Amino acid sequence: MRVVAIIPAAGSGSRVSGDVPKQFILFNNREMISYTLEVFQNSEVIDEIIVATSGQGRDILHAIKERDGLTKLTKIVDGGLERQDSVYNALKEANLAFDDLAVVHDAARALLPPEVLARAVATAKEKGSALVCQKARDTIGFLENGDLAESGNLSYIDRNKVYLVQTPQIFRYGELTEAFERAYSEGWYGTDESTIMRRAGYPVFISDGSALNFKITTDEDLVIFSKLVAGRV
Ligand code: C5P
Repeated sequence: MRVVAIIPAAGSGSRVSGDVPKQFILFNNREMISYTLEVFQNSEVIDEIIVATSGQGRDILHAIKERDGLTKLTKIVDGGLERQDSVYNALKEANLAFDDLAVVHDAARALLPPEVLARAVATAKEKGSALVCQKARDTIGFLENGDLAESGNLSYIDRNKVYLVQTPQIFRYGELTEAFERAYSEGWYGTDESTIMRRAGYPVFISDGSALNFKITTDEDLVIFSKLVAGRV
């Protein structure tokens, strides 16, 4: 059974300021995505890495592969309009067997702890899927219509029932491809693989995540990330 990382890295990073997509911003003279890729290159549970990216991202990725000696990075494929399209492009070019595991991970989660990755792959080997989640720790409020103008009517969800969904999201290649094809045939777009798999009727098993595995999304996240990697080579 092969275990292949699929890294969507074709986002424009519109929620952070700057000209370069956030995954290519430099920290200690290294692109954010090089930290992400390092985790997969160094992991004993990962056999191969495929990245989906667009435009100048291809050239940057080729340069990172050379510089960092990323021997597991076998394919750089075109990204798509949505995250789902980028992942699907990678799946189509992956050339895997039905039972091989596809480990989808956001380029923008650059501090994935190796033990979170190893635990999720072990869960997927045992149960057929793994969704890395973090249990909610804060009190969770919600507004029926999501409208701040109605915030006087805040309600609450029992936080023991709330899981914050991260990546990696790990599925059998054949099942994931089938679920994607079904979503496309119905013109449906999900925000991640787990929603696509659940919609197709597959069980999705939770594996413990980490606060360090946050998605670097806003300018504030960039500041937090830069502090966490300060001094790293
Ligand atoms: O935009 P967001 O932070 O949710 O993106 C999650 C991941 O999906 C990022 O690593 C981003 O580069 C990637 N993505 C992509 N193709 C898109 C949009 C996002 O590969 N069209």
